Amino acid sequence: MPVTSTLAIEADGLVKTFKDTRAVDGVDLEVPRGSVYGVLGPNGAGKTTTIKMLATLLRPDAGRARVLGRDIVGEADQVRGLVSLTGQLASVDDDLTGRENLVLLGRLLGYRPKDARVRAAELLAAFGLEDAAGRLVKNYSGGMRRRLDIAASIVVTPELMFLDEPTTGLDPRSRNQVWDIVRALVGEGTTVLLCSQYLDEADQLADRIAVIDHGRVIAEGTPGKLKASVGQGALHVRLLDPGRREEAAAILGPDIHREPDPAALTVPVAGADQASELVAALTASGLELASFSLAQPSLDEVFLALTGHPAEEEENAA
Ligand SMILES: Nc1ncnc2c1ncn2[C@@H]1O[C@H](COP(=O)(O)OP(=O)(O)OP(=O)(O)O)[C@@H](O)[C@H]1O
Ligand SMILES: [Mg+2]
Repeated sequence: MPVTSTLAIEADGLVKTFKDTRAVDGVDLEVPRGSVYGVLGPNGAGKTTTIKMLATLLRPDAGRARVLGRDIVGEADQVRGLVSLTGQLASVDDDLTGRENLVLLGRLLGYRPKDARVRAAELLAAFGLEDAAGRLVKNYSGGMRRRLDIAASIVVTPELMFLDEPTTGLDPRSRNQVWDIVRALVGEGTTVLLCSQYLDEADQLADRIAVIDHGRVIAEGTPGKLKASVGQGALHVRLLDPGRREEAAAILGPDIHREPDPAALTVPVAGADQASELVAALTASGLELASFSLAQPSLDEVFLALTGHPAEEEENAA
């Protein structure tokens, strides 16, 4: 069978039901090769179930999908050999050291002992884990653990990688490290399907995003398009002199929101350009700022705009 599609993943009407929960309810996806594709949605939206089907860990009840040109049901073994899993899907052994995990995986993937040790050493260095290499994984911090998870999944550079919430629960520094690793992988030609609950993560990494809710794709496009559908971000300013807040309010316009903090104001803005113009206008009027920041819309706001309901967790009847 020719495998020439420019799409790494083509899914058509995927469905998966668990008892009376329709976890995935007709998902279509088209993921171009060489890109990062974000699947964004709240708890229980069906993200993990979708990638488990694409990774051949779960059999769909209905629908079809091709991954790297192979059918996920009819050619499941081939798909399994080509993709790599991390995060909520697969993980390393807690009772081995970081180095032992990587060497073991290298051996399982067919490296000779010496080559497995060389590859493990390269990855430990690349992921900043050299000092921790000899420690048991159960004593790793969350960030070290997550980096080791990703290192483990690229012992052999995969064509396609599923990353399921790779930074949930990490501190900002560790999140940035993981993001850098993902960018480096994509630089080497790997296609990444990234599930996340964070709009900012998808915004940092993804070329395109599908937003899913209740097992369905409710929006698809570039991060810019998605944010534009919400309309805006917000400029938050805090004045040095709370007594001058009304002067600032007059400059920022009628849409301002007066924060409980008497020195603070928030105003919706179309983007960074408008935010910096407003900051400049304030300072030009002699209003000194203690701080200002530009917040992009949150996933909650995106959801509210797309669905009319907040992205709160559903209570599932047991
Ligand atoms: N093995 C299972 N048996 C029964 N129900 C399941 C099973 N796996 C998932 N579900 C249900 O299917 C729905 C989708 O779950 P899924 O794990 O795909 O969501 P998710 O988007 O990955 O959420 P999270 O962000 O919390 O990881 C949920 O209602 C979940 O409770
Ligand atoms: Mg999940």
